[in-house]
Amino acid sequence: MNIFDKIEDMRGAIQAAQIETADQLEQFRIKYIGSKGEIKTLFKQIKEVPNERKREFGQLVNALKQSAETRFQSLKDSLETVAESKVEVPDLSLPISDERLGSRHPISIVRDQMVDIFKRIGFVTVEGPEIENDWFNFTALNTPADHPARDMQDTFYISKKEDPAMLLRTHTSAAQARIMQTQKPPIRIIVPGRVFRNETISARAHCQFHQVEGLYIAENVSFADLKQTLLYFAREMYGEKSRIQLRPSYFPFTEPSAEMDVSCFICDSKGCAVCKHTGWVEILGCGMVDPAVLEACGIDSEKYTGFAFGIGIERTAMLKYKVNDLRLFFENDVRFLKQFQSVV
Ligand code: DAH
Repeated sequence: MNIFDKIEDMRGAIQAAQIETADQLEQFRIKYIGSKGEIKTLFKQIKEVPNERKREFGQLVNALKQSAETRFQSLKDSLETVAESKVEVPDLSLPISDERLGSRHPISIVRDQMVDIFKRIGFVTVEGPEIENDWFNFTALNTPADHPARDMQDTFYISKKEDPAMLLRTHTSAAQARIMQTQKPPIRIIVPGRVFRNETISARAHCQFHQVEGLYIAENVSFADLKQTLLYFAREMYGEKSRIQLRPSYFPFTEPSAEMDVSCFICDSKGCAVCKHTGWVEILGCGMVDPAVLEACGIDSEKYTGFAFGIGIERTAMLKYKVNDLRLFFENDVRFLKQFQSVV
């Protein structure tokens, strides 16, 4: 074949070349443009061309080289475009599916609501440790080792070898003494948190549950202040028309002590299963801080007085959401959990 025909053939082949993969593109490059490629070989063949046509030959081969490079670039570009279009770009304007959205745990919802209610009247939220020692959980709260009131709360001890013994706190009241030791009155705090008791698990009892503790210590704090604070809480939590009643009770760390009932917000005090047809639902324990507790924590009980209260969060959530089995709060069954306020 005449060498000029060969150039013509090659030009056709270059224009017609199709590639689908990066490998094929590379083959194309090696074949035509590479340093050992066909065009390079053509250049070397100039020796065989008669002198009068050498110039023409040179121009043709140069043009061929140019067209091979252009073709290479365009094949490369189209290969990249194809690769890009294969990456699935999600349509960002589509509304997101809400299927996997979580929901807030009912205990968290109620806890935050309580924290918020007390925050509005100046109570600061603090935390105490779940692993506590005997002194903070009992002794400082006027409940020494042989006190019969220790039987009110069946305790999980972690280690009795140490002194004081280590345990899982049985109530958030344990944080009271910690705060009184480190802060000077006026003290106005709430302590939300988890507590533990060695109870047989049933629909009404569990070995873990949550409380919100409240403590207010200042000069001239009276029982009337306690009552007014709790009335405010009841109205915010259960509705404006709520009424409260305080029944005398006993806690070692308060004197006098009381339990508080709120008028049944389910039946409007007409009588229902929740209030056991009494029109009242018990929601918390409270009282005036016993002077012995203040003294144990280094607070002058002649100068200062205070009140305290402890609210069960599960109990409140059970009433609010009409849940009749306490265990549901701890089983993490999604069918139960997803019924509550979703996280948005
Ligand atoms: N700690 C008590 C309990 O777990 C509840 C309680 C009662 C807390 C009276 C208080 C209080 O602060 O004054 O049963």
